[in-house]
Amino acid sequence: MKQLKDWFVPWLMTAREYNVSILDKAWANPEYARLMLNENPIPPSEKVVNAVAEAVKSGHRYPDSMKRLRIKIGNMYGLGPDNVALCNGSSEIIDAMMRIFLQPGDEIIMSTPTFELFPPRAELCGGKAVQIPLREGDLQYDVDGMLNAINEKTKLILIINPNNPTGVFIDDADLERFCETGIPLCIDEAYRDYHPDHPSKAPLIEKYPQVFLSVTLSKAHGFAGIRFGYLLGTEEMVDAFNTMFLPWNVNLMSMAAAEAILDNPQEIEAKVQHNNRWMDIFYEELKKLGLKPFEAHGNYMLVDATMTGKTTEEILQSAIDMEKVFLKKIGEIHGKSGYFRVTPGTDEENERFVKFARRYFG
Ligand SMILES: Cc1ncc(COP(=O)(O)O)c(C=O)c1O
Repeated sequence: MKQLKDWFVPWLMTAREYNVSILDKAWANPEYARLMLNENPIPPSEKVVNAVAEAVKSGHRYPDSMKRLRIKIGNMYGLGPDNVALCNGSSEIIDAMMRIFLQPGDEIIMSTPTFELFPPRAELCGGKAVQIPLREGDLQYDVDGMLNAINEKTKLILIINPNNPTGVFIDDADLERFCETGIPLCIDEAYRDYHPDHPSKAPLIEKYPQVFLSVTLSKAHGFAGIRFGYLLGTEEMVDAFNTMFLPWNVNLMSMAAAEAILDNPQEIEAKVQHNNRWMDIFYEELKKLGLKPFEAHGNYMLVDATMTGKTTEEILQSAIDMEKVFLKKIGEIHGKSGYFRVTPGTDEENERFVKFARRYFG
C-alpha cells in the first residue's frame, strides 16, 4: 500500500521551504521589534480604513476586475488598463510566473542571495533556480555570470530592482543586456516607491514584449497584511497572468484600500520619509561603529559585520537578548558569516536597535 507522500508530485517533497515561523513568534510577542521583515511600521490611515469598511458592505458580491483601479494604475506608468493585472500581493506573481513559463526541468536564473520566496516557487513546479552569486565587494548582480548561465532550458530571468537584500539598483545598460536575450524577464520593483526619483522600467515592455514588472503595495504603502500587488506587461502578458491567477484573486477590501491610498499620495510620502530618515540614521550609526552598511534604497539595510568576527547567529541572538529586536538572518555570502539585514520600525524600536548596535559593536 502506498503511503500518502508517494502520491504527491515528487517536487513537492524536494522544494526548499520558505520559512514563515518567525511571524508566529512576532505576533505572539508584540513587545519584540520586528525589524526582520521588510514591513512598514506605520498602520493604514483613516481614509484606507474607511474605504475598507465601506467595501465590506458589498462583501456578499464577487469582485469584478475593477477597471477604474486598473486605469488609475496604468496612468501612473503611461499604460492602459489592459496592461495591468491585479493580484493578491506580488507573491502571487512570483508563483504564477513559474507556472506560466517553467515545465519540469526548466530553469530560472536569479542571484544569490535573493528574496527567498523565488527559489521554492520555481522548485514547486519542478523548475530549477540557477543562482549566481552577487559580485564580491559591491554585491551587484554578476551580469556576465548570469548571462553565461543561459542555456536551452532557461525560460525566465529575475532582476529585483532595487535588489533584495542589498538595496542597490542595477545600471540601465546591464538591465538592457538581459532584455536583449529575448528570454522572459521579471523586473521586480517591490521597493522602487522608496526612491521614486528612479523611474520605473515599465517603458521597456514596449520594446521588449517578453519583459514584465512586478509591483507591490506591501512596502512603501504599508499593505503587507492587506495584500495587494499588480503586474505590468503587454496585453498578451497580462492575459497569460490572468489565465493563471484564480478568478476573484483580489478581494473587494484590498481593491478599495489600494484605490484609497493611491488617491492620497501624502500618506505614501509620509511613510517613505519616515523610512528614509531612519535608513540615513542607521547608515551613519553603523558606519561609525566600523561596520559596512550598504547604501540601500528600499526599507531594509544589508550590513556587513564580517570584520567583527561575530557570526550572523551570534548577532541575531544578541539583538533579541539585549533589546528584544528581531533582525533578518542573511546566510553566508562568499563563504563569510556576519551579514544581517535590518528594516526601520517605529521611532522607539529604531532607537532600541541603535542602542543595541552601539553596545554590541561599539
Ligand atoms: C523582492 C520582493 N518581491 C516581492 C515580495 C513579496 O511581497 P508581497 O507578496 O507582500 O507583495 C517581497 C517581500 O518581501 C520582496 O522582497
